[in-house]
Amino acid sequence: MREAEPYDVPVTVKMRMGIDDGHLTYLDAGRIAASSGAAAVALHARTVSQAYSGTADWSAIARLKEAVTSIPVLGNGDIWSAEDAVRMVAETGCDGVVVGRGCLGRPWLFADLAAAFAGRSERVRPTLGEVGATLRRHAAYLCDFYEDEAKGCRDIRKHIAWYLKGFPAGSTIRHRLALVNTLADLDDLIADLDPAAPWPGADAEGQRGRSGNPRRVVLPEGWLDNPDLTPEQRALVAQAEDDVSGG
Ligand SMILES: Cc1cc2nc3c(=O)[nH]c(=O)nc-3n(C[C@H](O)[C@H](O)[C@H](O)COP(=O)(O)O)c2cc1C
Repeated sequence: MREAEPYDVPVTVKMRMGIDDGHLTYLDAGRIAASSGAAAVALHARTVSQAYSGTADWSAIARLKEAVTSIPVLGNGDIWSAEDAVRMVAETGCDGVVVGRGCLGRPWLFADLAAAFAGRSERVRPTLGEVGATLRRHAAYLCDFYEDEAKGCRDIRKHIAWYLKGFPAGSTIRHRLALVNTLADLDDLIADLDPAAPWPGADAEGQRGRSGNPRRVVLPEGWLDNPDLTPEQRALVAQAEDDVSGG
C-alpha cells in the first residue's frame, strides 16, 4: 500500500475470515489494513478451509464493521440476488457489498442491485432472446479483450451454462454451445434458441459457479509459530502467486 501511495491509487483489501475456525484473523487484518492506508476492506465471510462449502457467516461482517470504523467495510459471500444484497447491508451494517458467483451468466444483477438500493422494485427479467444477445455481446467483448477470436470463444464456453440456467434449451444445443470456436458458430447456435421464451423465474435464480467441500489448508513450515513474519517468510509471501488463494 505504501508503494502505491505516490501513484495516488486507492488500494482495497479483500480477505477471508482466517485459515480455519481456530485461526480467525479478519478483525486484526481489517484493523491493520485500515491503519496502513487501505481505502476499503472487504470480507468473504468464510474461512480458507471452508473453501466454498456451507454458507457465508454474515455475522462476521457485522463484527468487522464494528471493529473497523475509519474506512468502508464491504461484505461478501452468497449474494445471489438484489434482495440478498439489501438483506446483507441491513443485517450487518456493512457499507457495500461485493458480488462473486452471483453475477456469472447474469451481468444484469448489477442493474437489480442499483434498483434495489434506490428502493425500486423493478428487476431485470430477460427473455431467452435478450439473454442470447447478452451472451453474444459478452463473447464479442472477450474476443476484443484477448484480440483473439478463438480464445474469446473458448472463454465464453464456460459462461454458457450459467446464461442458460433454467431456460428451455435442450442438452444438444447446450453441448454445441459449449464447443463454439467462432462468433459465427455462436450466432448460428443462438439463432436456434427460442427468443420469446420468458424468464424462467426461480429455476434461473440461486446458486451458480463453484461450490464444494471443505479443504485441508497446507501452510508453510512454522507459519503458525509466530504472528510476525521472519525475513524468509516475508520473501515467501512476496513470491506467492495470488491465484493460489482462490478468493
Ligand atoms: C470468476 C471468479 C473470479 C474470482 N476472482 C477472485 C480474485 O481474483 N480475488 C479474490 O479475492 N476473489 C476472487 N473470487 C472470489 C469472490 O470475490 C468471492 O469472494 C467469492 O466468490 C464469494 O462470494 P460469492 O459467494 O458471492 O461468490 C472470484 C470468484 C469468481 C466466481
